[in-house]
Amino acid sequence: MKIKILFAGMAAALISFGALAAEPIVIKFSHVVAIDTPKGQAAEFFKKRAGELTKGRVKVEVYPNSTLYKDKEELEALQLGAVQMLAPSLAKFGPLGVKEFEVFDLPYIFDNYDELHKVTQGPIGKSLLQKLEPKGIEGLAYWDNGFKCFSANRPLHVPADYRGLKMRIQSSKVLDAQIRALGALPQVMAFSEVYQALQTGVVDGTENPISNLYTQKMNEVQKDLSLTNHGYLGYAVIVNKKFWDGLPADIRAELDQAMKESTDYANNIAKKENDDALVKVRQAGKTVVYTPTPQERMELKRALVKVHTEMESRIGRDLIQSIYKQTGFDPTKL
Ligand code: LMR
Repeated sequence: MKIKILFAGMAAALISFGALAAEPIVIKFSHVVAIDTPKGQAAEFFKKRAGELTKGRVKVEVYPNSTLYKDKEELEALQLGAVQMLAPSLAKFGPLGVKEFEVFDLPYIFDNYDELHKVTQGPIGKSLLQKLEPKGIEGLAYWDNGFKCFSANRPLHVPADYRGLKMRIQSSKVLDAQIRALGALPQVMAFSEVYQALQTGVVDGTENPISNLYTQKMNEVQKDLSLTNHGYLGYAVIVNKKFWDGLPADIRAELDQAMKESTDYANNIAKKENDDALVKVRQAGKTVVYTPTPQERMELKRALVKVHTEMESRIGRDLIQSIYKQTGFDPTKL
């Protein structure tokens, strides 16, 4: 009898151990860029560190390059719980009803990463992430990509060069206004469709950090790239709040640590990834890379900065002013 109970106990222990070992918590992390980009690399790093720190109790499955969902679908999938983690660009939160993130799209609002980090790593960044909570989303961190450059199949030196061009943009009203300010025609399109749209002439040009341009091979279908660095593109790492709140406290602490390390990692590699991509674009030799003169840069800046006032009613004057205060930007001094 005793032996029978012992056997039954051992079997139960084995079954429950088996169940535990066989069923790690799965985090599906979907994104739209190539693995070989700042976001792609950081997602892989998070996957690795989450596995290590939780000793295999969490398994992160990364789905890069729109293999699981495209831009708009991925946000819906997160809210429905079909994926648990995303890192959409800050330009893609408008359709969700959190348009304040579009402040990051204002042309020339940040001159460099240091100015940007004053916002993303300070109280403004934090309060923006809190705006996601009523949508069932928790914002965990900001990950950098970099500064966008315009490309097309014609040299882009001065504002008049943009006139009449059909330009692909992300789903941000600030970016829409930015393109219109140049007399060009904005067209919102999912990231996964841009290469083909450029190749077939559905659009003439676009704007992207060079790491995105190169890894999607857009340089093969864009003859001219102008190093305008006119605006910032970065990400908010977000999770389904119900899922995140429901995690055991110890696991969540380990994942918080993994996220902290991944954020440092992402923000450390972003600039170099973009610099390296520019070298590769030059080496590929399909695109003329143009560096605007200081005078041309100022002309473009003057043409675009009016978008800041145009967008006050959408984003909030106070928010824009509070960023100026952090970075020292003064539009009246142009
Ligand atoms: C884009 O759509 O151009 C970017 O947001 C893609 C990305 O995630 O970097």
